[in-house]
Amino acid sequence: MAKTTLSTLREYKKDGRRFGTITAYDAAFARLFDECGVPALLVGDSLGMVMQGRESTLGVTIEDVAYHTSCVSRAVANSLILADMPFMTYDTPENACRNAALLMRAGASVVKIEGGSWLCHTVECLIRCGVPVCAHLGLTPQSVNVFGGYKIQGRSADQAQQLKEDARALQDAGAGLLVLECVPAPLAREITSSLAIPVIGIGAGSGTDGQILVMHDAFGITPGRTPRFARNFLSEAGDLRAAVKLYLDEVASGAFPSESQSFF
Ligand code: KIV
Repeated sequence: MAKTTLSTLREYKKDGRRFGTITAYDAAFARLFDECGVPALLVGDSLGMVMQGRESTLGVTIEDVAYHTSCVSRAVANSLILADMPFMTYDTPENACRNAALLMRAGASVVKIEGGSWLCHTVECLIRCGVPVCAHLGLTPQSVNVFGGYKIQGRSADQAQQLKEDARALQDAGAGLLVLECVPAPLAREITSSLAIPVIGIGAGSGTDGQILVMHDAFGITPGRTPRFARNFLSEAGDLRAAVKLYLDEVASGAFPSESQSFF
């Protein structure tokens, strides 16, 4: 199997080939996902909740993500490794470049940042410094306190218009990927078809180019309430490898996420 790059994911989009991705935080799971052929792994700041037991992602530091990225990168042969820039580590383009360097040195190939067109200059600076960027729009968990909770985004006409404009602006600034989280499925489909870059959805319906799940949600071991957009592939498949393969197959066929796992 060949190493996945951003060009691979762009080819998938061009060919209409839907792809599944998943979060990873340690070497054991990263190796398993890589061996199962998951094209991209995200070292998400969700690690604050699922690994550290926090209430939100806000307490995660750049050192935390760098540490988990180095664990993941030692185990991976082919999967593309994305790493999250934590809360307040990209408040200026200078801070973004300095902190992104820590993640790239730890083994990331792409960094992910949450926010709209106010980040365009930061995206341009990162790209100029050789750091590929994945943008993240919709329910961006680092802004939970601004949103007043984990709420679906893009339901009003104004919000939907803003999301479309932000997505286009971030692509034009050089973002190579976009994650859309918890937005109505028809809006996610429209944004996906309007962009040249691959769009990866979570709680965004089946019309995006790819899907991502927090691994704990895919295996039914999420502490507390499992989100409506998740599915317990482990209980269906019986073992970890079969669960990952089932997830990839169900994304590829368009069976996951179903309408009941999407928002409208
Ligand atoms: O931190 C994370 O795991 C994420 C995904 C939910 C997209 O940002």
